[in-house]
Amino acid sequence: MTRPISHRAQAISPFHVMDILAQAKALQTRGHDIIHMEVGEPDFDTPKPIIEAGIKALEQARTHYTPALGLPELRQAIADWYQTHYKVKVSSDRIIVTPGASGALLLVMGALLDNGRKVMLADPGYPCNRHFARFVEAGGNAVPVTAESHYQLNAKHVEDYWDSQTSLALVASPSNPTGTVLTKTELAALSAAVKKQQGTLIVDEIYHGLTYDGFDAPTALEVDKDAFVINSFSKFFGMTGWRLGWLVVPEGYTEIMDRLAQNLYLAAPTMSQYAALAAFKPDTLATLEQRRQILQQRRDALMPALEQVGFKFAVKPQGAFYLYADCSAFLNEQIPDSMALSRFLLKEAGVAITPGLDFGLFEADKHCRFAYTTSEERLLEAADRIGKALNKS
Ligand SMILES: Cc1ncc(COP(=O)(O)O)c(C=O)c1O
Repeated sequence: MTRPISHRAQAISPFHVMDILAQAKALQTRGHDIIHMEVGEPDFDTPKPIIEAGIKALEQARTHYTPALGLPELRQAIADWYQTHYKVKVSSDRIIVTPGASGALLLVMGALLDNGRKVMLADPGYPCNRHFARFVEAGGNAVPVTAESHYQLNAKHVEDYWDSQTSLALVASPSNPTGTVLTKTELAALSAAVKKQQGTLIVDEIYHGLTYDGFDAPTALEVDKDAFVINSFSKFFGMTGWRLGWLVVPEGYTEIMDRLAQNLYLAAPTMSQYAALAAFKPDTLATLEQRRQILQQRRDALMPALEQVGFKFAVKPQGAFYLYADCSAFLNEQIPDSMALSRFLLKEAGVAITPGLDFGLFEADKHCRFAYTTSEERLLEAADRIGKALNKS
């Protein structure tokens, strides 16, 4: 019997890092001490007030569906967050609670992309974006970006790479894998360039809150009322496993998103939505601020330690929890590319990292991503082990 698998599903490639992860797990089972720097989620647990609100929700048997657009109280709390944090007025009608930023990406691509259309994306960038586009029978228009544009799409890219099939541009600020942030001026220029092409801008703001050196990422809503903005409780709020995010849509798009949400997943998890009501409370925010400071310290410790070993950084990331490193100094006949380097470092140093290939094709062979989602002590130990392994080879 042949097993039917759609072309759509076949076209979606797995993460290369899964290979590394499987090997790392096998090594761990055999007693090896592996330092995980491939993981794209904070090591901190969900803040206590959120967990307590989740427990309370279960005790009160909040176990039924919520409206597809989300709990009205949570939509209002998110709208209030835009007012207090960004000084931007957004009506709660425009906020749609989703199962993670992933759910928001699915809604946006499903609602805005027709067959054969394309979404402009930065390469390197978050790999799932092009897969979401493929899933709705559309595609990615991947634009190679370098340190010159802070690894972000800019107005010039839009002018140079926009084609007749492209109708959307999607950026993440701070970005995964590079951690770079778009300023308000850059966002405004990007928005104007996209509008000039009659296109729509989508900004993934999932790493908002995790910015350093006094840098505060502006929301695209400050400069473009027609932009679609994606965010999540996963990263800054430490709620990856609760599967909760949100989408802010321009006026007039709520009804279509409601229809899609009803049909695709009915609603985001109820317990998680009640728990998230505690996410914007002062004591939660105080904990999150402490964590942000810890992440900044980790970045500041890890970056020079890796530079010392021989990795190069074309930019200092202002946000997220990733370092995107040029590893070409270590490539040779035995280790021809960053995937081989990732395998080598796992085997010889017991350190798991993510090869550049997971973020696109442009110069992917000579880049890798380090996530600083483990303690500073372990990060420094990892840099030390990496240095020893590479100097030996
Ligand atoms: C840029 C970016 N967008 C979206 C997501 C999806 O996150 P979630 O669905 O957990 O909110 C991730 C996860 O790593 C990400 O890095």
